[in-house]
Amino acid sequence: MEKTSIHGMWSSRMAFVLAATGSAVGLGNIWRFPYMASDNGGGAFVLVYLACIALVGLPILMSEVLLGRHGRRSPVNALTDLVRELGASKGWIGIGWIGMVAGVLILSFYSVVAGWTLHYSWLYLSQLFGAAPISDPGATFSGLLGNPLELSAWHAVFMVLTVGVVALGVEKGLERAVRFLMPALFVLLLTLVIYGATTGHLTEAMAFLFKPDWSQISGRTFIDAMGQAFFTLSLGMCTMMTYGAYLPKGVSIPQVGVTVALADTGVALMAGLAIFPIVISFGIDPQGGGPGLIFTSLPHAFNTMPFGIAYGLLFFALLSVAAWTSSISLMEPATAYLVERVGLTRRKAALVVAGICWIVGLATVFSFNIWSSVRVPEGVRVIGNKNIMDMIEFVANNLMLPLGGLLIALFAGWVVKRSLLKDELNTLPPGLLALWRWVVRVIAPLLVLAVLISPFVLD
Ligand code: TRP
Repeated sequence: MEKTSIHGMWSSRMAFVLAATGSAVGLGNIWRFPYMASDNGGGAFVLVYLACIALVGLPILMSEVLLGRHGRRSPVNALTDLVRELGASKGWIGIGWIGMVAGVLILSFYSVVAGWTLHYSWLYLSQLFGAAPISDPGATFSGLLGNPLELSAWHAVFMVLTVGVVALGVEKGLERAVRFLMPALFVLLLTLVIYGATTGHLTEAMAFLFKPDWSQISGRTFIDAMGQAFFTLSLGMCTMMTYGAYLPKGVSIPQVGVTVALADTGVALMAGLAIFPIVISFGIDPQGGGPGLIFTSLPHAFNTMPFGIAYGLLFFALLSVAAWTSSISLMEPATAYLVERVGLTRRKAALVVAGICWIVGLATVFSFNIWSSVRVPEGVRVIGNKNIMDMIEFVANNLMLPLGGLLIALFAGWVVKRSLLKDELNTLPPGLLALWRWVVRVIAPLLVLAVLISPFVLD
């Protein structure tokens, strides 16, 4: 009989694609990608990012899913089984531990930012009922960041939402929710792209996003692009391994991997094409927008476009949903581990993980107000002048995820037996299988390594 997971299984290929796309598409695409491009000078960053997705992201995505599907347990336990089966060193189990720590760190700030999107949904909802419009988006945004109580309250609301779904188990509400919410988000973004085109600044936006200005390339461009590629595809912390554990055997891993990677990249590029024309047309500098970029630029558009308020509400509500389907995937690995290891019920396990993430998240909340002066000294390479949130993000996204991914690639490429790979990737023709194996053995690890050391050799 086929081995299944005690946590449940996806009901179909489509269910996995939706759940994995739901995990991949989130704040990373619509909030983070545009401001990362903005802070790194545009086109050159986008190009390096696309290369990272194709050469490193997709092959590692496939590795994670196949390891998970073979193991059928939470990452630490799946790796424990694999290591025993292969007679390999127990050190590889560390991948699962790095993943769980990275997951807690990422969810801690992810939930704070998702709280901003909830707050903005609320702002537009109250405007529908007559509240004053956002006349000065910059002031509204900094007002929110300056208020630790409000930030931690929305952070708590978002955590409760996340626990709600994770506690219910994966198949129930989630599969059904993503089925129409993801397409809705897509349609909305498309409308924004069209609106952006009507501002008359689409050409400038395209030039900013796609015309590489190589003088902008630095060690930071590479490390940011690689970090973004891992973050946006939910890679490097065993999220996709966990989702792979619930994937039925007959489904083609390369095929679903390509689908998820394309959908995710498409959404990020669309977000860029929606946002930059608006940014430019309102006279905001497209460079150096920082984490506030969408919150300070889009409200200008919602103030002037027809049905702008309803539109703003829809946009931020759907962005909250996209964040929600991602955050549950950040919580799932640690939750599944606690269920397996300590025998907690799913609900209790999810509550424990959420409680820890909420508390760690307070560091992010305070980094905008009472701890805002705590910063890395100006002169330090790459991380100079970062505040606490930026530091947590940097360590988790740009260091831990690539490191986790590097180890996953090496493990899948060098330790896992060929027969097992052939069995899990049986839909790949032999030539492509050999190519994939060569990429995860040599190319991807070398690229990740090069990126990790790039800040020390390039300025
Ligand atoms: N990919 C999601 C986004 O772009 C965030 C996310 C979900 C994630 N699960 C993850 C990031 C696991 C890294 C690792 O918003």
